[in-house]
Amino acid sequence: LRHFITLDGLDRAMLTDILDTADSFIEVGERTIKKVPLLRGRTVVNLFFESSTRTRSTFELAAKRLSADVLNLDINTSATSKGESLSDTLLNLEAMASDMFVVRHSQSGAPHFIAESVTPGVAIINAGDGRHAHPTQAMLDMLTIRQHKQRFEGLKVAIVGDILHSRVARSQIRALQTLGAEEVRLIAPGTLLPADVDSLGCAVEYDMAKGMDDLDVVIMLRLQRERMEGALLPSEREFYRLYGLDSEKLALARPDCIVMHPGPINRGVEIESAVADGPQSVILNQVTNGIAIRMAVMSMAMSGQVAERAARARQQG
Ligand code: CP
Repeated sequence: LRHFITLDGLDRAMLTDILDTADSFIEVGERTIKKVPLLRGRTVVNLFFESSTRTRSTFELAAKRLSADVLNLDINTSATSKGESLSDTLLNLEAMASDMFVVRHSQSGAPHFIAESVTPGVAIINAGDGRHAHPTQAMLDMLTIRQHKQRFEGLKVAIVGDILHSRVARSQIRALQTLGAEEVRLIAPGTLLPADVDSLGCAVEYDMAKGMDDLDVVIMLRLQRERMEGALLPSEREFYRLYGLDSEKLALARPDCIVMHPGPINRGVEIESAVADGPQSVILNQVTNGIAIRMAVMSMAMSGQVAERAARARQQG
C-alpha cells in the first residue's frame, strides 16, 4: 500500500493481508492491542473536517500504539477559519515533516485530491469522504465478521437502511464481495437506495421481514439526515416500524446471526436498545477492532511509502 483511499482495485489477497496484519496486533486470547515500534520517529496528522468519535479516536490510539507522534489538527480553531486554503494548510503541515495525513471530509474525493497534491512520500489514509468510501470502517467490520464466523464463503450478509447516503455501505459491499461472501443483500425503501443499485451486484429486498430470512450477519445503518437535503423520507416512527431492527425481526434471521452497526447508533430509529445491547450484538467489538485495523493500514501504507521513496532516490541516482 502507498495511500489507502478506497477498496476498489484491492484484491482478496491484499484485504486478507490487512486482516492478518491487524490480527497480529491483537494479544492472543484477549482483546488488548500490542504497542509496537513500527512508526517510531514518524508523524501522523489527523485532519478531520467532519465530526467523528470512533474513527478519530481509534486512529489516534492506533498511531500511538505504533509509536508515532500524533498531531490532531483542530479544524475549527485552525487558520482555515481565516481563509487559508486546504492546499496551503497541507503545505504548512508537510513543512513540519509529516509522514501521514488521516483525512475525513464531507466532499467525496477529498482524500484523492490531497493524495494528488502532497509531496510523494506522504501517505494519505481515507477516514471517510462524503458518500464515497470509508475503507477502514469496512475492514474493521470484516475483521469482526471473521472473528465471529471464521470465514466469508457461504455467508449471507444484509445491510439495512440508508444505503443511499452511506459511504460505509459502499465500502462494505466491495469488501464482502472481494472476500467471497455468498450474498450481500440490501434492505431499504426505494428512496434510500442509490440510482446505481443495479450495478452493485447485491440482492435487493424492500420488505424487511422477508429480507431477514437465513441471514448470518445484519448490518444496520443510521439515517444520515445531514446528507439528505429534502429527500422523500418516511418519518422516524414509520422508518422504525418498517426497517428498525427489533427482537421480533431479528428472530427471523439465523439464530447465530450477529448484529453490527458502524455507529453512531440512533436507538429507537434504526435499532432497538434490547438488540443493540443484546447477546447477538458485536457493535462494541467493531469499535475495538478499529484500533488493530487502523494500525495495520497505517503500518502497511508507511512501509509502502518508504519503499517508494527508496525507489525514487535510486532513480535520481
Ligand atoms: N463509524 C464512524 O465513522 O463513526 P464516527 O463518525 O464516530 O467516526
